[in-house]
Amino acid sequence: MALDIENPIEGSFQIIGGNFDNAGEASSQLKNRLLELNVNDDIIRRATIATFEAEMNVIIYAAAGRLNFVITPTQIQIRIEDMGPGIENIEQAMTEGYSTAPEWVRAMGWGAGMGLPNMKKNSDVFKIDSVIGEGTTIEMTLNLT
Ligand SMILES: Nc1ncnc2c1ncn2[C@@H]1O[C@H](COP(=O)(O)OP(=O)(O)O)[C@@H](O)[C@H]1O
Ligand SMILES: [Mg+2]
Repeated sequence: MALDIENPIEGSFQIIGGNFDNAGEASSQLKNRLLELNVNDDIIRRATIATFEAEMNVIIYAAAGRLNFVITPTQIQIRIEDMGPGIENIEQAMTEGYSTAPEWVRAMGWGAGMGLPNMKKNSDVFKIDSVIGEGTTIEMTLNLT
């Protein structure tokens, strides 16, 4: 499959809060598209990590959300939008090791407080916007060139 600026490849996936059985579904769909497109391994790895962490946060903290991606010849654009409690202090949430994950989530191996820092680290452009009581939107771009 070839990448064409006139026909960007797009995908959209619903993410349901609390649905740990489907954890990783949205990020692996994106990964499969990137594999089909023969995108560089390191970029696939970074995109998959960043998307997986964002997807997990919707599952853990929000009621529901949606992942949208657009792949053009030059960029992967990823947007994860959720309906949830929002984040009161984004700077604190972005701190490595900071987590409000409840004990039962930690028992499953989540809640190391590295998700947001790793999304930022693995994307070329990272934007987060949150409204208390409404939800959180994360936009990540990875350059393909
Ligand atoms: N989508 C979200 N909605 C509400 N709160 C969130 C969301 N994503 C992250 N947070 C808050 O930011 C904190 C840090 O997130 P993260 O770095 O992914 O670490 P972790 O998920 O391991 O706690 C979370 O513990 C939570 O308090
Ligand atoms: Mg997380």
